Amino acid sequence: MYHAAKPTSTLIRAHLVRCHDLRCEMPTTVTQHGPIPVSTTLFSTWCRMQELTMPLLPPTTAALVGTGLLILYLLATRVNSFVRTRHIPGPIWAGWTDLWMMRAQLSGRFCFHLRDANTRYGPIAKIAPNWVVCGDAEELRRIWGVRSAWTRPFWYRAFRFDPYKDNAFSTVDDQVHEKLRAKLMPGYGGKGVDNLHELIDRQVAGLVSLLETKYLSTKTEFKPVDLARKVQYFTLDVISALAFGKELGYLAADQDLFSYIQTTESTLPFMLTIGFMPWLLKLIQSPRLKFLMPDIDKVVGIGTVIKTAHQAVAERYGDKPLVKRDMLGSFVANGLTKEEAEGETVVQIIAGSDTSATAIRSTLLFIITNPLVYRRLQAEIDTGIEDGRISSPITDAEARNLPYLQAVIREGLRMWPPATAALPKVSDKDQVVCGVHIPAGTNIAWAPFSFLRSKKTFGEDADVFRPERWLDIEPEKYRAMDQTVMMEFASGSRWECLGKTVAQIELNKTYVELLRRFDMTLIDPTNPWTSFNAAVFIQSDMNVVVTRRDS
Ligand code: HEM
Repeated sequence: MYHAAKPTSTLIRAHLVRCHDLRCEMPTTVTQHGPIPVSTTLFSTWCRMQELTMPLLPPTTAALVGTGLLILYLLATRVNSFVRTRHIPGPIWAGWTDLWMMRAQLSGRFCFHLRDANTRYGPIAKIAPNWVVCGDAEELRRIWGVRSAWTRPFWYRAFRFDPYKDNAFSTVDDQVHEKLRAKLMPGYGGKGVDNLHELIDRQVAGLVSLLETKYLSTKTEFKPVDLARKVQYFTLDVISALAFGKELGYLAADQDLFSYIQTTESTLPFMLTIGFMPWLLKLIQSPRLKFLMPDIDKVVGIGTVIKTAHQAVAERYGDKPLVKRDMLGSFVANGLTKEEAEGETVVQIIAGSDTSATAIRSTLLFIITNPLVYRRLQAEIDTGIEDGRISSPITDAEARNLPYLQAVIREGLRMWPPATAALPKVSDKDQVVCGVHIPAGTNIAWAPFSFLRSKKTFGEDADVFRPERWLDIEPEKYRAMDQTVMMEFASGSRWECLGKTVAQIELNKTYVELLRRFDMTLIDPTNPWTSFNAAVFIQSDMNVVVTRRDS
């Protein structure tokens, strides 16, 4: 009897160990000894009960009792989670299960569901038993602030591109993160990097040349082009040129090399969904289960990027290292280890290509579908060229002195923010946000589409693309609006986007270099693109006709 009961008991014990490993993800309550998961008492009672009862029961009864206890335990934890956040408004199911949040994530409209939750339930809305979403810019700035009590929760571990190693984006350890940032910041900011602007100029020229040679329509030739794809080739070439010292060559090949775009588009949403399932994330990243997982550098798409990153990094370390004054060279000079450099180079590609591509595509879409804006921007560019204030190619400094261009860039980021993942923060103490009590251990996601369309900050017509709102206003008003839009780069926080300077240079140059040469017409304004939001935007089929301006 005793021996027969053992396997069931061992199974349950294995489950307990797993549950125990996940304890940090359970709702917590605070005592004088610090935060303790609220379910710990239930959990230990359950452990004790099964320890006492299992050896005495026949196997079938033991299995039944075990299952019954498990169901009871799960029910009790659900009730517990519901009770601790029942005062927070939100969709009814969000109080009991993660299904509302998972459905939103898989619907292709994640960021809009978060915005709708804020519109319906207020600036703090519950979206899962242990998750709320905040749509208030001021409170988010405080939460993300340099010296705030909030930190990154386990969700960020989904950004481990190598399942067994952290990088700047995935680490949840504040001290490790701070040290890594110190080594990365000079290079990202262009310090000790000789050719940052030239490398970007070369890729802008590549984009112009691709449109000019293959996709220029005339009165007699019709050559539609999916601008969404070409812009992504451009951002991938910019980032790879910065990361590896040489672009991967997307623009020259005019195709999705090694199916990188196709595979990241299918895996990134999946990765971000797993972020909401810490138990699964733990399993996938468990070194004990490594034998079940494919080698990451053999995976189509991302594997090639990883291999290229490893090759580029290998040259910079060892007995006879290649010393260069580029971004990777700066990372090495600032003390990044070989292993860290391998990870950070891959992060750069993933963090820096989709985001900038979304910003460029969506802003271009808003420009070409708003005749007044289109005309005014082209007029500013033309006058700047005539007056000798715009070189060829335009410099970053010249672009910063074009008020209408700067207004268009900000308005584009505001209307269609590229960074729309949940990016949650967590505190180990109870907190009050927007006047609502947030129990310790609750993940607080952000909702850019809520705070960037705020009528209080941007006016009654906040839903309209109107760059003019940035012009001729009080400096105080401008500062408040700018601070809110720059939150899209997590500006002023300890997680501020490391690639902000690079992204801004890209935006400053691309619109001018395209619109000084070309006119663009959307082929089907009733169906401008395919855009799917799974926390990152996946966009394609932005079909336009490009013509030469003097034709
Ligand atoms: C319009 C374009 C971009 C937007 C809106 C954007 C937005 C953001 C945001 C919101 C974060 C903070 C994430 C968090 O910790 O929760 C972030 C982090 C980061 N971004 Fe960007 N990003 C953009 C472009 C880029 C580019 C071009 C690069 C690379 C050259 C880049 C590299 C990074 C890196 C490495 C981090 C991690 C920083 C850290 O953990 O300390 N980003 N970005």
